[in-house]
Amino acid sequence: MKARTREAALTVTAVSTAVALAACGPDAGNDAGGDDAPRIGLLLPDATTDRWEAQDRPLLEAKIEELCADCEVEHANAKGDVAIQQEQMESMITKGVDAIVLVAVDARSLAPAVRKADAADIAVIAYDRLAEGPIAGYVSFDGEEVGRLQGRALLKAMGDRVRGGQIVMMHGDPSDPNADAFKKGALSVLEGTVKIGKEYDTLQWRSETANMNMSSAISALGVDTFHGVYAANDGLAAGSIAALKANKVDPLPPVTGQDAELGAVRRIVGGDQYMTVYKPFRPEASAGAALAVAAARGESFAGIATDTVRTAGDGEVPAVLLTPVSVTVATIEDTLVKDGVYTIQQICASGLEAACAEAGLT
Ligand code: GAL
Repeated sequence: MKARTREAALTVTAVSTAVALAACGPDAGNDAGGDDAPRIGLLLPDATTDRWEAQDRPLLEAKIEELCADCEVEHANAKGDVAIQQEQMESMITKGVDAIVLVAVDARSLAPAVRKADAADIAVIAYDRLAEGPIAGYVSFDGEEVGRLQGRALLKAMGDRVRGGQIVMMHGDPSDPNADAFKKGALSVLEGTVKIGKEYDTLQWRSETANMNMSSAISALGVDTFHGVYAANDGLAAGSIAALKANKVDPLPPVTGQDAELGAVRRIVGGDQYMTVYKPFRPEASAGAALAVAAARGESFAGIATDTVRTAGDGEVPAVLLTPVSVTVATIEDTLVKDGVYTIQQICASGLEAACAEAGLT
């Protein structure tokens, strides 16, 4: 039998009844309806950042299917709304899924729902973002290292402009604990080395907000007075670059990013964005899937989680911590193309053929 995926309903009242499947594990957990096939809830945070639906979701679903053909995955996306994600957690608990893979929209606000899941004996695996409350496991990257990679790359791209140079910083959403780690890592490299002309947090990681903030920064600082833009991810980079262009900032200053979105890789080849941080999606999704399947079957994480992490409540949970990679035009082929994330054809289509040839991407 194939693993199956269903859209989870947004509200508790609209929850559909799970279809019984044959059990695939030795201990299929706590299914309420007597259905003993493991069921895994997959709760993603938003559709503003491409990676969740374009990379993480298909990779997680495929790996869960590979590890447990009878497992059923129920997916829902909170569209950046904390209340919606709280309802989705409630819905998963009511259905009695066996494990939940959670990318929290807001780590703190979701803690009561995590406690409720734990009380119902449902393991919550914090995926990419360290959720608060009694989580069972965690998989992610070293967030401060992401910030350091971005900061160092920005200084390298600024070259002679570092001395006496000024930058603008676009940070992520403060309710996402990763945003804080990226900021801390970046500031550890940049603060005291360059002047930070303007600095913004960006609620819900919205590209449009970064666009507005960049325009305000240009009005406040002037068009020619800054020499680099720290953008915490590719969506913020896109919004910032659009504002730089609309305000005729020429030449464009180097702009950082994160997530290795296809659009960002194309901007890097075309010269509009300097770098992105690639957090290999496949190993993260594989670890997330392995933790979720083990939890759903009531098995231990031995052999999967070799690290531990301290949670907000001071507990220690098993973790898988992976290494982020800085990507510039010179390393696209050795990283993203080599890992099969994108083909050269995808990157170089529609108008980028000449830039790709120049970059040796053929
Ligand atoms: C972070 C995540 C980043 C980025 C961002 C925006 O938590 O680590 O990769 O996607 O959220 O959603």
